Amino acid sequence: MKKLLFIIILTGFALLSCNDKTLVTTVEEDKISLPAEPYAYDQLDLPKETQPAFTNFIDFEIINGVPVNTQFKSDITPWGATLGRVLFYDKKLSLNNTISCASCHHQDKGFADGQQFSTGFEGRITTRNSMAIINPILQNNLFWDSRSKTIHDLSLQPIQNHIEMGMENLDRLVTKINETDYYKPLFLKAFGSDKVSPENISKALSQFVASITTSRSKFDVGLNNNFSNYSELENMGRQLFNSDKAKCASCHGGNNMSAQDGPNDPYGGGGSFSLGQDLRGATNIGLDIDYKDNGLGNGNFKIPGLRNIELTAPYMHDGRFKTLEEVINHYSEGVKPHKNLDVKFTDGKGNVKPLHLNSIEKKALVAFLKTLTDHEMAKNPKWSNPFRN
Ligand code: HEC
Ligand code: HEC
Repeated sequence: MKKLLFIIILTGFALLSCNDKTLVTTVEEDKISLPAEPYAYDQLDLPKETQPAFTNFIDFEIINGVPVNTQFKSDITPWGATLGRVLFYDKKLSLNNTISCASCHHQDKGFADGQQFSTGFEGRITTRNSMAIINPILQNNLFWDSRSKTIHDLSLQPIQNHIEMGMENLDRLVTKINETDYYKPLFLKAFGSDKVSPENISKALSQFVASITTSRSKFDVGLNNNFSNYSELENMGRQLFNSDKAKCASCHGGNNMSAQDGPNDPYGGGGSFSLGQDLRGATNIGLDIDYKDNGLGNGNFKIPGLRNIELTAPYMHDGRFKTLEEVINHYSEGVKPHKNLDVKFTDGKGNVKPLHLNSIEKKALVAFLKTLTDHEMAKNPKWSNPFRN
């Protein structure tokens, strides 16, 4: 009798654990939900470019009138970016399965995260504000200090960075991905082989990141109708943004409102700019007299793109400003006389020359900046989380 009971219990256990197993695989198989046909990630929807002055980029080719870094363009395939999407949202990319790229880059926040600093691996805090991802394909230099030349270069960095994801050892990452069932078919479709390598992980992630484009804002509609869709205040802000008075567009240039950073751009090492060095699209805007973090050196930080700026607060490399109003106040009366301050903020003799914008002008600039939001991008399923929770 006792023996029989023992056997029944044992069988019960066996059945249970068997059930458990099937359950685990079902969960694994159903874990992600992807369309049978991939989204057309290779069809990039980029902003219309109206400034032909930017046609001299070295690494760029003009596609639909837009300088596109062709290095990435030719790389993007629908399945490659689909694999990249899964990797981007997968917490398995961190050492203890707690952090994914998307932990700090939220689609509904223009791929920033709404925090001054972000929490990465084991609760460690980043030293800089998470960056929005804004048409990276139109940019030459990435990160707040412009240290990375290409998205490809960049995408393994956060995985290996201990503060962000704690995965210093790439072999371990490869083993982990290899052991994850849903990756095999995805690698096969993306690269014609299910072999997982750091290069392929990086390629897929960069394809996904490169496919993130924004070109459907009120501003983009305005480009085609002479801004007749703008309110009076928004148009006033637009003119001010482009004016010699506020000078915003001289740094946040073109229709991406980012550093143009070509050989003919002052910040790209060319032109007649007095600094005579390649600033890699970065400059010093006088946030402090002594910077705790000197960025690229001398307090120079990347001139960021301003699309979706309404969604990506707080602002600056250290997230010091909570609102756009605070940013405008900085430019209007807060610029500090740092020894490397960009000459655009000085009177030519090294003294700060404040813009002194009045309250209507400030409101107008904020109203204009809010026309740069692409609400469709913020919820487009092709860039959304494929994991079912
Ligand atoms: C713990 C938070 C965190 C995680 C996780 C994270 N990032 Fe970031 N990301 C940041 C921060 C902070 C910066 C700015 C870092 C700097 O300038 O040094 C940044 C910058 C970037 C940029 C540069 C954008 C630009 O315009 O220059 C890209 C692209 C990016 N991350 C993609 C990724 C990808 C892909 C992953 C996953 C492999 C990832 N991030 C994981 C916080 C994070
Ligand atoms: C001399 C070049 C220059 C000029 C002129 C300039 N900016 Fe900037 N802007 C920058 C740089 C560089 C940063 C990033 C600084 C940092 O984080 O340390 C920045 C950051 C910003 C940010 C925050 C972006 C983010 O993602 O956190 C906004 C908003 C902004 N600028 C708007 C404007 C407006 C509006 C004007 C005109 C009143 C203007 N800028 C003029 C170079 C410039």
